[in-house]
Amino acid sequence: MRPVLVLDFGAQYGQLICRRIREAGFYSELLPFWTRTDEILARHPQALILSGGPKSIFDDDAPQMDPSLLGVGLPVLGICYGMQVMARQLGGEVRPADIREYGRTSLDVAPSSTLFHHMGATTTVWMSHADTVTGEPEGFAVTGRTAQVPVAAMEDPSRRLFAVQFHPEVVHTERGREILGNFLLHGAGLTPDWAMGDVAEEQIRSVRERIGSERALVALSGGVDSSVAAAIVERAIGKRLVGVFVDHGLLREGEAGLVADVFTNIFPLDFRPVDRRETFLRKLEGVTDPERKRKIIGEAFITTFREVAKELGAIPFLVQGTLYPDVIESGFGEAAVIKSHHNVGGLPKEIGFEIVEPLRNLFKDEVRSIGRRLGLPQALVDRQPFPGPGLAVRIVGELTKDRVDLVRRADAVVRREIEAAGLDKGLWQYFAVLPGVRSVGVMGDDRTFEEAIVVRAVTSEDGMTADWARLPHDFLDALAGKIVREVPGVNRVLLDITSKPPGTIEWE
Ligand code: XMP
Repeated sequence: MRPVLVLDFGAQYGQLICRRIREAGFYSELLPFWTRTDEILARHPQALILSGGPKSIFDDDAPQMDPSLLGVGLPVLGICYGMQVMARQLGGEVRPADIREYGRTSLDVAPSSTLFHHMGATTTVWMSHADTVTGEPEGFAVTGRTAQVPVAAMEDPSRRLFAVQFHPEVVHTERGREILGNFLLHGAGLTPDWAMGDVAEEQIRSVRERIGSERALVALSGGVDSSVAAAIVERAIGKRLVGVFVDHGLLREGEAGLVADVFTNIFPLDFRPVDRRETFLRKLEGVTDPERKRKIIGEAFITTFREVAKELGAIPFLVQGTLYPDVIESGFGEAAVIKSHHNVGGLPKEIGFEIVEPLRNLFKDEVRSIGRRLGLPQALVDRQPFPGPGLAVRIVGELTKDRVDLVRRADAVVRREIEAAGLDKGLWQYFAVLPGVRSVGVMGDDRTFEEAIVVRAVTSEDGMTADWARLPHDFLDALAGKIVREVPGVNRVLLDITSKPPGTIEWE
C-alpha cells in the first residue's frame, strides 16, 4: 500500500491529518520530521504532508526536515508550521507575527486555485499560529489571504507544491475535507485506493500466511480492539486460535455472556473462559491505594495468563489488539504516566510469544468499521471504552464482593437508561462510580444510612481530555429514582461535573 506520508513536526493534529487522508480513501502514515529522505522514498509515498507544530521557526531548536525532500518530485502540502518550513527552504520570507492568530478566520481565496476550486470568494478556516509567510517563494502564486496574513495559502502546481497557513484537518475549517481532497485528487493527481473491506481481507490473508499451520493465543477482554483482532485471526485460522477470557470478577453486567456468545457462535474459536473471580478478590483484600489496586490486577492477570498458556502447551503466536495511536505514541517520545494503565492487550512481550498485531496500522474508528464488516454485533463494536482493571477503578476504597456487585448493578442501570433515551450517541463514556460515601436518608418510614452512587458521563475525542456531559435534568431525575429503587444499599445519587483536566474520567 503506497502511503500518503504525514511528516510530524510535533503537531497536536498529526494523527487527525492521517485520519482525514484515510477518510478520503488513501492509506496514510505519520513519520517524525527527522526521517531521512532515503527512508521516506523507500516507502514509495504517493504524496507528502508537512504538519503543523508548536515551535517557532525562529527557535534555535526549530525542527527542520531534510532539505532535499522538496526537490524529489513528490507532491507536497505544507500545513501551518509545515508551510513556513516549505517557504523558508524554497527562498520565501517568513516573519514573526506581533500577535498570535487563533480561531476562526475568514479566508479570501483565488477561485481558480487548485486547493479552493469552486469554493467562492471566501471560506471560513481555523488558524493557530504566530509566525507567518510574508513573501512566497519564486514560482508560487498566493491563493489565499486573511485580514492578518498576506500569504495564507500558496501553490506552485507545476511542481505540485501547495501550502496553507490554516488547519484543513480540523472540523472548524468549513471546507477542510474538500481542501485536503483537492490537494490529493487535483494537486497530487492521485486516485483513492484504500477501503476498509480490502484492509480486512488483506489482514486475514497476511495473518494466515504468517501463522501457517501453527496455533495462536488471544486474550479476550470484551473490548473492541481484542475482539476485532480475534475476529480477523479466527477468519484466518479458525479453531487454531485459542481465546482466553479471564473473568476477574470486575466485569460489567452481561459482559462474560456476550463474549462467550460471540466467540462460540459467530467467530467459533477455541474459547477458554477462566473463572478467577475469587483469586482476584482475595489478592485485593484490604487494598485501598489506587495504584496498588491497578498493579495487583495487572500482575494477577499476567500470572493467570501464563498459567493458562502453560496448560495449553506450546503456542508460538500471541494476538494483540495494538492500534496505530499506540504505535505512534510509543515511537514518538514519552508522555507522563498519570495512571499505570493495565490493558489486557498489553501483555509484556517477554512473555515468550511472537506477537501478531492485525490492527497496528488502524485508528479506532477504522477498527470499529472492520468489526462491523466482519459481522461482530453492534453491542461489542460500538461499546464505550472499559478499563482493563474493570470496575475496580470505579470503587473508591476497599473492594468487597458486595461493593463490586453494587456498582455493577448501578452501572447496568446507568447504561440501560442512557441507551434507552438515545443519549449514548454523543457520549464517550457513561457509568456509575461508588465513591465510598454513606449518608442518611429516609425511605418509606425508615431512616437509612447507605452508599451514594456517582453518575459519570463524559464527552471526549480521544480520552485525553474530556468534558462532563450536560444530560437533561428530567432524564437525570428519572435516572436517580431508578438507581435508588433498583439497587439495594443506595439511597443517594450524585452527578460528577468535573472535566479532564483537572479530573480524570475514571475515579482511580
Ligand atoms: P482516565 O481515567 O485516565 O482514563 O481519564 C482515560 C481513558 O482510559 C481508560 N482507562 C483505561 N483503559 N486500562 C485501559 O485499558 C486502564 O488501566 C485504564 N484506566 C483508564 C478510561 O476508561 C478512559 O477511557
